[in-house]
Amino acid sequence: MTSIVAMAGRHVHELMRFEQELFGAEAWSADAYRDELADQRHRRYVVAVDDEGTLVGWAGVRVLADEGEILTIGVVPAARRAGIGTLLLTTLVEEAGRRGARHVYLEVRPDNAAALRLYEREGFLAAGIRRGYYDNGRTDAVIMARSLTPAPPSMVDAVRSDAEVPE
Ligand SMILES: CC(C)(COP(=O)(O)OP(=O)(O)OC[C@H]1O[C@@H](n2cnc3c(N)ncnc32)[C@H](O)[C@@H]1OP(=O)(O)O)[C@@H](O)C(=O)NCCC(=O)NCCS
Repeated sequence: MTSIVAMAGRHVHELMRFEQELFGAEAWSADAYRDELADQRHRRYVVAVDDEGTLVGWAGVRVLADEGEILTIGVVPAARRAGIGTLLLTTLVEEAGRRGARHVYLEVRPDNAAALRLYEREGFLAAGIRRGYYDNGRTDAVIMARSLTPAPPSMVDAVRSDAEVPE
């Protein structure tokens, strides 16, 4: 069973073993992760751990006003194609919604077939191109976005009418 828990300082050391392999030129430093973790107001980082507590994936989101951005998501190679990427992504999308986001977006390399497929399956659609986002301006990013559906009116009405029922 995979569990999702809040990323803590000790996880940074563990994930740094994989950061370069997963993200190459876009790899972050341990200090960059620590800075991200320090901003709890706008950011939420989580890790996926297996039964033994070993880190198998991680991801982060930033929410500013009504917009969430997935900042990173990675699953260690030995644990892929088991739904962990999906679990991390859905956890962060839900978190963004809880924090008031109405849209969530992300950037992805156009040749990252695994990530593109994962995002499409989770309802993200190509929304534009971010010119020169990768490789010191040489490679564009695809921007993908997803709207977060507000609670259906019927549910909102039900809650309201419950509250208004006279004693
Ligand atoms: C992208 C990544 C996070 C996916 O993690 P994962 O745990 O393997 O994802 P899941 O098991 O939840 O896969 C969900 C779906 O995505 C698609 N998918 C995932 N990996 C795929 C691959 N290598 N090729 C094609 N489709 C793939 C499939 O549709 C998959 O569903 P399925 O296994 O039922 O066919 C992982 O490959 C990774 O860490 N890549 C390196 C880092 C990276 O590129 N991060 C994204 C940066 S934008």
